[in-house]
Amino acid sequence: MSLLSKTLDRVKPSPTIAMTTKALELKAAGRDVIGLSAGEPDFDTPQNIKDAAIAAINAGQTKYTAVDGTPALKQAICAKFKRENGLTYEPSQVTVGTGGKQILYNAFMATLNPGDEVIIPAPYWVSYPDMVLLAGGTPFVVEATLENRFKLTPEQLEAAITPNTKWFLFNSPSNPTGAGYTRDEVKALTDVLMRYPQVWVMTDDMYEHLVFDDFVFATPAEVEPQLYDRTLTVNGVSKAYAMTGWRIGYGAGPVQLIKAMAKVQSQSTSNPSSVSQAAAVEALNGPQDFIEGNKAVFQRRRDLVVGMLNAAEGVTCPVPEGAFYVYPDISACIGKTSKGGTLIDSDEAFATALLEENGVAVVFGAAFGLSPNFRVSYATADEVLKDACTRIQAFCAELN
Ligand SMILES: Cc1ncc(COP(=O)(O)O)c(C=O)c1O
Repeated sequence: MSLLSKTLDRVKPSPTIAMTTKALELKAAGRDVIGLSAGEPDFDTPQNIKDAAIAAINAGQTKYTAVDGTPALKQAICAKFKRENGLTYEPSQVTVGTGGKQILYNAFMATLNPGDEVIIPAPYWVSYPDMVLLAGGTPFVVEATLENRFKLTPEQLEAAITPNTKWFLFNSPSNPTGAGYTRDEVKALTDVLMRYPQVWVMTDDMYEHLVFDDFVFATPAEVEPQLYDRTLTVNGVSKAYAMTGWRIGYGAGPVQLIKAMAKVQSQSTSNPSSVSQAAAVEALNGPQDFIEGNKAVFQRRRDLVVGMLNAAEGVTCPVPEGAFYVYPDISACIGKTSKGGTLIDSDEAFATALLEENGVAVVFGAAFGLSPNFRVSYATADEVLKDACTRIQAFCAELN
């Protein structure tokens, strides 16, 4: 009898791990390596949030809490949805987990039966397809194009729907492209969904607050209120408040779904950290000026990186609406050979040679389901970004 489960056979090991391991090895060997692969803000958590956590510890809030969130946090989440998204949820419609990641996972575990399909637009966040597989469902990946700036069209969505479709998984602004759907673009997708009442919407709004220029964030249940009864709206404090290590995410939707998700959590991890929940209450209820300050910094970095990457030979980098990633296309580099003699026959070969020869760690596009591209996370200091982009320019200039 084999030790490992058959379910695990369906899941791919993370293709990003090889790159990260390689970068660490080179660093350990004394090489000068710049990492542009981290998916987290480089800012520290704001002091008022830290203070709230310390106060919670001192007040003895160090015990188990209700399985899927304290009443105080659920209230704060309801207030956030009302204030920022015009969505009315009762605390009974809200569930809190250990990061947005657990919320997504709970939702799939609670709803997927063998044969159920989940439509996932590519490029996608690396975890989506494997979470669906772990939960016993079938990912149905639809590739968005560079021409449509990495956004799924309503026609593509409609063509992907089958009688087995259970969820449409939506993520705007997106990891890895930073692409944000305008209100009209969201409406065009929700119009399609209105014709298919069996399809539910899981919207991952994790990067809601990281949007630039005059882009206005829009979420499906607010854009099309008739979808409210079959939408799970997922969000969290990780990206907006620089709280990735605190592990708090949340979802809101119909009570039946929320209860089922809480059941999954009750028999797996139980409540998210009591201290982190107290911190999240302060993040949502406290002053919000941190978000605006962050946005300005990220927008400046985005402009710097997009400008420098577009100046690299063979690289086309669309300007994203949000998040802290860019996803340049490198079609024009494929088939060339690097200065070190590597044939660039894939985005993985590009990223590996870039790391080995010029010391910049990025994540290759195949990890996100759309090639040939690579993802740069610009959540790092301007000087580091300039250095990294200069190295990428040099690497591309030397391809032939
Ligand atoms: C698109 C997207 N969704 C969800 C998450 C999960 O966030 P967390 O579990 O830290 O709340 C991430 C984190 O990288 C993400 O990029």
